[in-house]
Amino acid sequence: MDADRTDPERATDPGEPAASPDTDAPVDPAEGTAPTTAAPWEPIAPRIHRCKDADALAEAAAKRFAETARAAVARHGHFLVVLAGGSTPRGLYTRLTGEPYRDSLPWQQTYFAFGDERCVPPDHPDSNYRMADETLFGPLGIPETRVLRMKGEQPPKEAARRYEVRLDDLFLLVPRPQFDLVLLGIGPDGHTASLFPGTAALDETGRRVVANHVPRLDAWRLTLTFEALAATPRVVFMATGEEKARVVAEAFGGVEHAAPHPCERVASPHTHRDVFVDAAAASRLP
Ligand code: 6PG
Repeated sequence: MDADRTDPERATDPGEPAASPDTDAPVDPAEGTAPTTAAPWEPIAPRIHRCKDADALAEAAAKRFAETARAAVARHGHFLVVLAGGSTPRGLYTRLTGEPYRDSLPWQQTYFAFGDERCVPPDHPDSNYRMADETLFGPLGIPETRVLRMKGEQPPKEAARRYEVRLDDLFLLVPRPQFDLVLLGIGPDGHTASLFPGTAALDETGRRVVANHVPRLDAWRLTLTFEALAATPRVVFMATGEEKARVVAEAFGGVEHAAPHPCERVASPHTHRDVFVDAAAASRLP
């Protein structure tokens, strides 16, 4: 992996508390230091990992996934991970089904949730569940009992409400109602999960899961909200291709832009953000 950890915001802010550049262990908010300044809080600077190509990105992201899984199980006996949809994560999921990950990660203690889902049946070609099942659950033999599927075949608002209840049940497994890792992709318009610019879900507060109508797609989606996605010590973004370069540079590289992109808004005072990009998606970073 050809990754250098360019930390644009940390580089320009000498006042940033000195932290080991290899701060890999997820921070448990229970142990994390409370923000030293009054609100508004400052997010932890994103860490950009430049990878030479999609394969190197899959390997680098797999390493981060593995570190986080082992730390979570060591800390509280389970690993709750939110999977990303779209096409970029395919490489990561496939990589996790090979060595050294297949036989060394705590799959028996791992529970999978989804960041979003298209409102289609689980066997539909557009289904994020189907993609994850083909590339990860099937090859690893993950039982359905450890996969929280968003039921895209149900009426969207009902499916969102039901998923919220299932998340509450999942959180009973761990000391705090949060995920250990959230995986996310990035759209060329800056969306992440199904939090698209200009859609109602961006303004949602109080709910963890909503049905979101996306006019641009003329489609309903199910999506975790900012509140739910940021309830984690670690988010891993993955982006490849030139079409993502502008948003990556603006959202995570400190390049001036008018309004925060949805992907940029998945943040909290305690959330470490890794941004894995290939050379094309990194091409407009400072
Ligand atoms: C979805 C995703 C969405 C995706 C981005 C990037 O359901 O489509 O959750 O947020 O991550 O659109 O998609 P690609 O990885 O296909 O570029």
